[in-house]
Amino acid sequence: MQLLDGKVVSAAIKVQLKAETANRLAEGKKIPHLVVIIVGNNGASETYVASKVKNCEEVGFGSTLIRLPEDVSEETLLSKLAELYHDDTVDGTLVQLPLPAHISEEKVILAINPAKDVDGFHPVSVGRMVQGLPTFIPATPYGIMLMLEHYGVQTSGKHAVVIGRSNIVGRPMSILLSSQHAYGNCTVTVCHSKTRDLASFTREADIIVAALGRPGFLTADMVKEGAVVIDVGITRVPDVSKKSGFAIRGDVDFEQVAAKSSYITPVPGGVGLMTIGALLKNTMAACKMRAGELS
Ligand code: GUN
Repeated sequence: MQLLDGKVVSAAIKVQLKAETANRLAEGKKIPHLVVIIVGNNGASETYVASKVKNCEEVGFGSTLIRLPEDVSEETLLSKLAELYHDDTVDGTLVQLPLPAHISEEKVILAINPAKDVDGFHPVSVGRMVQGLPTFIPATPYGIMLMLEHYGVQTSGKHAVVIGRSNIVGRPMSILLSSQHAYGNCTVTVCHSKTRDLASFTREADIIVAALGRPGFLTADMVKEGAVVIDVGITRVPDVSKKSGFAIRGDVDFEQVAAKSSYITPVPGGVGLMTIGALLKNTMAACKMRAGELS
């Protein structure tokens, strides 16, 4: 069993981006600037946005965190996004999800400038991804692809089972794995909450991506010997032994499943770190594209 180590791969991405940013600065070129918006104070979202800002700082990017109260109106958020749409100092804009129920996620995503859509959630980005055109790929699936590439995990002709069909992970993951490129070319099955006998699909899978948000869901009896197992779960579960009062658990029963798998991602230290690395790569790409350096 080989661990797909998010620490190693994301550190390599950050070293490369940090050097590239320093070179840009020395050459008088624009430095990437990411704006992150958080609405309310959901604990998990707070942790993610803090990490996004911190990682920007670590590689030398500019970053701005905009905090809006839980009861902010949809109109106020949309007008902030309209401002950022045209602000030339901003390369990437993202609004942390989920949003409070009174705000339409769809309207918010549509209000982001597609040229700054580093989350890859705008329909323009999604459409381009589906058609295999250059675009921003949502950070979690992009991070997983970068990890497969880093470890040279062969995907062509393999049967991949993706559990979950969210716009953030499952759906884009299924598209990328089936696309025609070096780390795609899989035959993909998408399983979800209405799938009957889900284990009958996972047992046949060469590659499993578990992105359903149910701690320890994927057990050893559901996995074929030698499978590649990617765990996207990051659920907080109560744990009195931790200072924070919680531990992070993935969707995979790691101990049992690791013994059967060829490659597996740990939680924490796997996909979560890759998500940040991918977001940073998207932000650098947005900066270069807006500066006319990329087509
Ligand atoms: N919430 C969970 N994952 C993500 C993500 O990748 N981007 C944003 N904006 N919100 C999220």
